[in-house]
Amino acid sequence: MLDLPVIQDRDSAPAATGIEHTGAGRKLYVETYGCQMNLNDSEIVQAIMNEEGYAHTTTPDDADVILLNTCAIRDNAERRIRERLKHLRYYKKRKSSLVVGILGCMAERLRQRLLDQEQLVDLVVGPDEYRRVPALVADAAGGGKGIAVQLSRVETYDDIVPLRTEGISAWVSVMRGCDKFCTFCVVPWTRGRERSRALTSVVEEAGRLWDDGFKELTLLGQNVNSYKDEASAADFPDLLAACAAAVPGMRIRYTTSHPYDMSDKLIETMAAYDNICKYIHLPVQSGSDRILGLMNRKYSVEHYLERMAKIKELMPGCALSTDIITGFPTETEEDHRMTMELMAQVRYDGAFMFKYSPRERTRAWKMGDDVPDEIKTRRLNEVIAQQQEIAAEINQQAIGSTEVALVEGPSKRNPAEWQGRSDTNKVVIFPHNEQSDYVVGDTIRVRIERSTSATLFGEVVAA
Ligand code: SAH
Ligand code: SF4
Ligand code: F3S
Repeated sequence: MLDLPVIQDRDSAPAATGIEHTGAGRKLYVETYGCQMNLNDSEIVQAIMNEEGYAHTTTPDDADVILLNTCAIRDNAERRIRERLKHLRYYKKRKSSLVVGILGCMAERLRQRLLDQEQLVDLVVGPDEYRRVPALVADAAGGGKGIAVQLSRVETYDDIVPLRTEGISAWVSVMRGCDKFCTFCVVPWTRGRERSRALTSVVEEAGRLWDDGFKELTLLGQNVNSYKDEASAADFPDLLAACAAAVPGMRIRYTTSHPYDMSDKLIETMAAYDNICKYIHLPVQSGSDRILGLMNRKYSVEHYLERMAKIKELMPGCALSTDIITGFPTETEEDHRMTMELMAQVRYDGAFMFKYSPRERTRAWKMGDDVPDEIKTRRLNEVIAQQQEIAAEINQQAIGSTEVALVEGPSKRNPAEWQGRSDTNKVVIFPHNEQSDYVVGDTIRVRIERSTSATLFGEVVAA
């Protein structure tokens, strides 16, 4: 039987804290790992702490409170946090009053174990308990150790305006949790059951973001297809359409939808609105039906390809990306070959590729981890090499075309160049100098002159 996560219902969320402005004059530093939902959660935590008077700092050097918002998706994600904690000892030595907290999925997964194993850690708070962070931090400042890891069926932080510090792109969580129970995945345990925000609240937030100067928003959920507005029974395509219509000048993206319920309605809605970006991340995980069955993904390769065909039919220029796992329990060379074949057939613009990492409590954990690490690595390297070749070929075809890019700012590599992003989510690099007449947040046209597997390069041309 499935080892289901423990969740308690909570009709009304507890007040943020009983203590008034515990953080006045103190500085908070938050470091975020994992997916975009964690990025948005960190903004929610910062908003909650800000209410209590904590100021935001971008470096641990002058922080009074350091919070790591963590990921548990693969073992290496957790190892990274353990390493980071070792480095943070230095700050604690310098300032003994420093409070260190672990938030997020690793906190939810390990709970008390984290407090027992990591002496430096003062508090452990799971994704549905962020309203309690100020009270727990205040306790920790008084020498206490705190833990809050209850999962909720109702918490969506709907009433909290995330404290966004970055410029033009905003993350907006529209649902939380996941009920899919893919057998490899820890998320149903770390994030709990699915629940959605109200449609009106999401649309209002989109309007506010536009008024505040944001140019792009990404609707987030582990499985956005499960979105359901309780009041109106609106589904995810309805929500997407409502946002697109409410802020027609804003680019709208979303992630992640599950291939099992990638509906015609969703594809038609994307096609109907110019401001919904033509880019779909549709994780396939494997090209073998036998492995997909063991993963409990609930679709076949045939269904997946049929969905891809529909997308290409209604949106011929739509970019596609995927997630792949190599070395899932019992994966044979033949299964692996089928994954390579599927990827060659779809020709993805991008892919996130991972070695299978066994996660305690999941169903796959009990299947053993029988593919030796060197075979997992070899298969991973093969899918990566093939994908890079395909992406390079696709991007090569963009040479000579003109892409519309949203200007993000200076490129990371070369100060004489700026970068933007195309509608299809590709990084576009173009020259920048004193004469350049565009600013961050502008939409410009770039004629593509060269490309790599990851990036397009070109010259800015008149609109
Ligand atoms: N909700 C998203 C995925 C979220 S996790 C979806 O279903 O599409 C992001 C990716 O991490 C997954 O798509 C999967 O490819 C990978 N992943 C999840 N658990 C993993 C594990 N135990 N080992 C390796 N990769 C894993
Ligand atoms: Fe994990 Fe599957 Fe849910 Fe994605 S859909 S978060 S892979 S259980
Ligand atoms: Fe990681 Fe949790 Fe996101 S496990 S991928 S941070 S939902």
